Amino acid sequence: MYPNSFSISSLLALFFFLFALIGVPTTLCVDDPRYSDCRTTIRCGSIAFDYPFWGMNRANYCGPPGFELKCEDEVAKITMGQNTLRILDVNPRQQILQVAREDYWNGYCPTELINTTIDFNHFDFGSNLRNLTLFYGCYLPSVVIFGNNCTINGAIMDVSYAVTSLLVDPRPVVCQRSVIVPIYERASQILEGNPLTVNDALKGGFELQWEVDSDRCRRCSDSDGVCGYNQTTNSFICFCRDQPSETTCSPTTQVNEMTPLTLNILTG
Ligand SMILES: *[C@@H]1O[C@H](CO)[C@@H](O)[C@H](O)[C@H]1NC(C)=O
Ligand SMILES: *[C@@H]1O[C@H](CO)[C@@H](O)[C@H](O)[C@H]1NC(C)=O
Ligand SMILES: *[C@@H]1O[C@H](CO)[C@@H](O)[C@H](O)[C@H]1NC(C)=O
Ligand SMILES: *[C@@H]1O[C@H](CO)[C@@H](O)[C@H](O)[C@H]1NC(C)=O
Repeated sequence: MYPNSFSISSLLALFFFLFALIGVPTTLCVDDPRYSDCRTTIRCGSIAFDYPFWGMNRANYCGPPGFELKCEDEVAKITMGQNTLRILDVNPRQQILQVAREDYWNGYCPTELINTTIDFNHFDFGSNLRNLTLFYGCYLPSVVIFGNNCTINGAIMDVSYAVTSLLVDPRPVVCQRSVIVPIYERASQILEGNPLTVNDALKGGFELQWEVDSDRCRRCSDSDGVCGYNQTTNSFICFCRDQPSETTCSPTTQVNEMTPLTLNILTG
């Protein structure tokens, strides 16, 4: 056994020696700081984010506008129009964010009544959603579906909701205000059976699918680059160890230095 393990450790030593030899030229030149920066991951709570997301430790050249994240009390948040959305989960492979509206996180009485606005330049709704319409200030004695009041901007308003639009529903016409919040189809089915689950439905959130040029990013990553975005020229950029590229990183310089030698051998 002893000679065997000895030769393995010799091999390992040789391997590390060769590795050190190859490693020396690359460690001598400093990586492009943008390459190093955009290689980092945003960690917020238990969720990790890479390209196209940026913010905090990732500079704005690490992703397109519209993908800026904040981390507040271990909760990642993204802003779209007037809405702040809490990120409940992320699926980078399917490019899906699970989000919930911050202003409806603690109940159906927000301080301000705002509709859900999505950044359709970069996102789209998931396919498994229903619209929950919340009606405020209806003052219809007959509509005691969910007899509760909210105090919004100092005014007491009754609140009710609908997940399906009934043809005879007077509320769209009669109520002072209405707000549309997407919820999961499954949550809407539960809600139809039990009105008390409205807060759960709101907290469950909804899905957004994001759209970026993932083919270009994959080609960049395959060439050992890191995906980024030039917010000045509004275009994709691939950060390489040495310098940015519009497409992919060229092979390392050692390979290029070998070429004249190889040619000499071939011609000589
Ligand atoms: C939300 O959108 C609905 C449908 O477009 C509209 O009727 C309602 O007035 C909007 N509510 C607010 C608060 O803007
Ligand atoms: C919900 O309402 C919005 C308009 O406010 C509409 O664009 C969207 O398609 C609706 N979603 C569903 C699932 O009906
Ligand atoms: C809601 O407010 C109305 C008018 O102020 C009042 O008559 C009603 O009892 C309140 N409902 C609840 C559930 O507090
Ligand atoms: C973005 O493009 C501009 C104009 O070509 C250039 O000056 C700038 O350095 C680029 N920024 C990044 C982060 O590559």
